[in-house]
Amino acid sequence: MIFCTVSRIMSCKSKSDEKTMLTLGIETSCDETGIALYDSEQGLLAHEVYSQIALHKDYGGVVPELASRDHIQKTIPLIQQVLAEAGKSQSDLTGIAYTAGPGLIGALLVGATIGRTLAWALGVPAIGVHHMEGHLLAPMLEENKPDFPFIALLVSGGHTQLIQVDGLGQYHLLGDTLDDAVGEAFDKTAKLLGLDYPGGAALAELATLGRAGQYQFPRPMVNRPGLDFSFSGLKTFAMNTVHGAGNDPQTLADIAYAFQEAVVDTLLIKCRRAIKQCKINRLVVAGGVSANQLLRQKLKDYMFEIKGEVFYPRHEFCTDNGAMIAYVGHVRLQAGQADDTAIKARARWPITELTPTSQKK
Ligand code: KG4
Ligand code: ZN
Repeated sequence: MIFCTVSRIMSCKSKSDEKTMLTLGIETSCDETGIALYDSEQGLLAHEVYSQIALHKDYGGVVPELASRDHIQKTIPLIQQVLAEAGKSQSDLTGIAYTAGPGLIGALLVGATIGRTLAWALGVPAIGVHHMEGHLLAPMLEENKPDFPFIALLVSGGHTQLIQVDGLGQYHLLGDTLDDAVGEAFDKTAKLLGLDYPGGAALAELATLGRAGQYQFPRPMVNRPGLDFSFSGLKTFAMNTVHGAGNDPQTLADIAYAFQEAVVDTLLIKCRRAIKQCKINRLVVAGGVSANQLLRQKLKDYMFEIKGEVFYPRHEFCTDNGAMIAYVGHVRLQAGQADDTAIKARARWPITELTPTSQKK
């Protein structure tokens, strides 16, 4: 499959010298294959996400080897589909961006290999994009974009971070989780409540049936100074509560309600602290957990109260997608950055290692 696609595109002419840039974005860091096309004049032209949730459901979590194999099968057909939707062909591409980390190494290598190979065959530049920078800048795909500087709350299945963003590639870590990420705490608690993986959205849904005041969960680390988080205690608290409470549907909904309230309250307290500390009243909330309605509402209310602004990606760009990768790759390629021809990916990659666009990697 890869060979015939590559041999077909070998004959395509490079268009890197043309003014309009068309960047293909490839996201394969975990359990979603995301592909998108970003045009320098028209913005996002098309995007598709293929979710592997059904594939991993029976295992209660992502099985890395299955994820890699599925990305191999889905990436090229999805690239062809997105190109067709946008009315473009491979020869129109002027650059390729792929997620190079952090994430599952096998899954990352699929996107990196396909992206790099396509770029080499087309004679266009390619760049490895940081997955969390993608999440961080996903609100830039919206009409109402945040100006720099802003505070970013990055909340996903693997990360819980507060970052001061002074410009593209200028990221100062203010706070991080000491143990579980917030999405991971949602997923593990959801599993205890009998919900399927990934349980974040399902837990939030169940919480809508819960009653206030039935259970009181702790707000971890809020009485200590600083901006770090810890969610593993909350998950243990949920486990003990579920085991002690029985499993009638109303009880489970009440626990989901109390858990979600505690998580959202904790995130709100830390965001408030970061905003006061940095004296910046623009907040970006991104990553899978930013799809949570209660979190969105509470942060919106708070930012309204202090006459600040809050920015979210649209719902479909909160979780993993190719659009955010195409966007970041596009901006960096446009600034003249590109990677060499080696296929590289990193399972771990601190976001603070990124550099501004003026400083070439
Ligand atoms: O960013 P993402 O798609 O993948 C990672 O990079 O990790 O985030 C996935 C995480 C999962 O833990 C999922 O349960 C959580 O985001 N999530 C939610 C909601 N939607 C997705 N958590 C709480 N409420 C939601 N509505
Ligand atoms: Zn993600």
